[in-house]
Amino acid sequence: MAQDKLNIGIILGSTRQGRVSPQVGEWVKGIADKRGDANYEIVDITEYKLPFLGEGTGDEPGLQAWNQKLASLDGFVFIVQEYNHSITGALKNALDSARDVWYNKAAGIVSYGSTGGARAAEHLRGICGELKIADVRTHPTLSLFTDFVNFSEFKPAELHLQNVNTMLEEVVTWSGALKTVR
Ligand SMILES: Cc1cc2nc3c(=O)[nH]c(=O)nc-3n(C[C@H](O)[C@H](O)[C@H](O)COP(=O)(O)O)c2cc1C
Repeated sequence: MAQDKLNIGIILGSTRQGRVSPQVGEWVKGIADKRGDANYEIVDITEYKLPFLGEGTGDEPGLQAWNQKLASLDGFVFIVQEYNHSITGALKNALDSARDVWYNKAAGIVSYGSTGGARAAEHLRGICGELKIADVRTHPTLSLFTDFVNFSEFKPAELHLQNVNTMLEEVVTWSGALKTVR
């Protein structure tokens, strides 16, 4: 990784078998890597095997690794899917499983669902406020009906490209600014 660049994690919000979030995350990463303005990496919650908050010992290696990973990042792009008009339980648990390593960093949101995942994304914005994460305005919203084939094969419409780039521009700018206050 280039030392002088910001580190931005693209966090996959879903963990279920058969999830489509890896396809969406890789698409965002492909666009991001072409920009060359930051180090972008996929961060997959499933790899950390986080205990449900309060049910573990607090000493689980995955919990520590999760906090270390977040500490190494300057900003985030959340890949958000709508479950019952909100974010997934897995993402909420991952958000709850760290605290000050989220603080004073920026985030963008890419969401999907029947209405572009907009309701889930708005819930996430409220959580970001509490975790001192500055969520940027530009928010690509992907439709399960028009950006996926059979709700499972991701085929994004061309029009989203500009929005993703604008969102990334905002995330990198704000991540750089917030680094100076940490
Ligand atoms: C438990 C559950 C609840 C869902 N609720 C909604 C919903 O409220 N609104 C919506 O637009 N889609 C809803 N969906 C559809 C998901 O957005 C869709 O299955 C999406 O692909 C899930 O993301 P994933 O494949 O990354 O897990 C729901 C799916 C699941 C599994």
